[in-house]
Amino acid sequence: MARITYDDETAAAFKAVREIPRDGLGQWRAAIRRHLSPTPETTLVDIGAGTGQFAAAFSDWFGLEVLAVEPSAAMRAQIPRRPGIRVLAGDASALPVPDGTADGAWLSLVLHHIPDLDAAAREIRRVLRPGAPVLIRQGYPDRADTKRTFPWEFFPETARATDTFPSLEQTCQAFAAAGFRRDALEQVPETLISLPEFLARADTYRRSDTIMRILTEQEFLAGKERLRRAVLEAATSGQEARTNWLDLLVLR
Ligand SMILES: C[S@@+](CC[C@H](N)C(=O)[O-])C[C@H]1O[C@@H](n2cnc3c(N)ncnc32)[C@H](O)[C@@H]1O
Repeated sequence: MARITYDDETAAAFKAVREIPRDGLGQWRAAIRRHLSPTPETTLVDIGAGTGQFAAAFSDWFGLEVLAVEPSAAMRAQIPRRPGIRVLAGDASALPVPDGTADGAWLSLVLHHIPDLDAAAREIRRVLRPGAPVLIRQGYPDRADTKRTFPWEFFPETARATDTFPSLEQTCQAFAAAGFRRDALEQVPETLISLPEFLARADTYRRSDTIMRILTEQEFLAGKERLRRAVLEAATSGQEARTNWLDLLVLR
């Protein structure tokens, strides 16, 4: 069970406000190219593909084959249908992929939804070719900079949720038990929408986001007020887009 239900309303909200502008993903593109060395023959399994923002980016950037595996029918319905992207029902512990056929696995903001990380790691081991990387985009509670991530700075009570996410240590242990070793860990910046845009979309954002959903009405309104003040301050200094940092963990 995911932490929230990815129903039609959530999927539409996610599509509307959670996809990162493609221009903001340049550092991810470079990092993935370095660790995956993609070619048009590469098959990448996007596990918990959501609305397909990364499946589409990988297809556009590298011309590879993406198997976009996603358990929610509502999220799957949002994934672009086009050559190079195969949309499949499944989850991290039951991947509809034959043994030893994939050249990489990608998991973006999915670890905290997986009920049995050990089983998922074993399943990912089953579908990957030997030496193929698992690439994980995630924030971990045991990493010092987790609380620099957006939208924590305005909604600090979201830590009640993120503090319960799998730690880096737990994640590495689960994957080590399945035969993976840690190959790399780096912080990757991404450029999000501007503060005024975020303020305008805050209510929709809340509906789409696991960690924003746990906020009480009072906490949400207080965070919106902090955001409103930051927007006013930014108006004098220029309304820049926001930079967020997440970890890229690579296991092989
Ligand atoms: C926060 S969204 C991230 C979507 C996408 N990876 C992205 O970064 O845009 C989390 C996704 O994980 C999916 N999910 C939930 N439980 C899962 C599981 N056990 N295995 C794989 N995906 C799962 C949800 O349906 C949802 O689409």
